[in-house]
Amino acid sequence: MRGMTVRNILIHPDPRLKKTCERVAEITPELRSLASDMLQTMYDAPGVGLAAPQIGELKRLIVMDCEKEPDASASPLVLFNPEIVWSSDESETREEGCLSIPEQYAEVERPAEVSVRWLDVDGSRQEEKFEGLWARCVQHEIDHLNGKLFIDYLTPLKRQMITRKMVKLKRERARG
Ligand code: NI
Repeated sequence: MRGMTVRNILIHPDPRLKKTCERVAEITPELRSLASDMLQTMYDAPGVGLAAPQIGELKRLIVMDCEKEPDASASPLVLFNPEIVWSSDESETREEGCLSIPEQYAEVERPAEVSVRWLDVDGSRQEEKFEGLWARCVQHEIDHLNGKLFIDYLTPLKRQMITRKMVKLKRERARG
């Protein structure tokens, strides 16, 4: 197995985070390697989900691990071409954050449960119903594939405030 690499996570605002990503036609070894890098990058951050555009790869690929029990083993999920095929009428408001918008959190309302269809690392079709944090996370990550961030659900004023903070953060980081 090829070594896994922690990749650099893009910080908002970045034009690559606003793009609609392309569907994956075939699960190649390169894409499997990319998925491994993404898992490594997500665990390293640490975070519970990561979408390919967040490391500058404009492909429909997300990874997640929302297992919160401290003693539980890792439950990594790799989803190529994920699609929401059903959403519950019942919605839920929860606080969200994003690795591309560090240390900023806000309440976002989304369907409480969703069914998602995707291709796994072996190219097999999978479908699963998600609830709780998993449902929250999968919707947030699929949004990334459509160039949408959680701050796009906030008021323009709140969004501008957060964006200004991120511009400042990036300037500070660039200065070292
Ligand atoms: Ni995010």
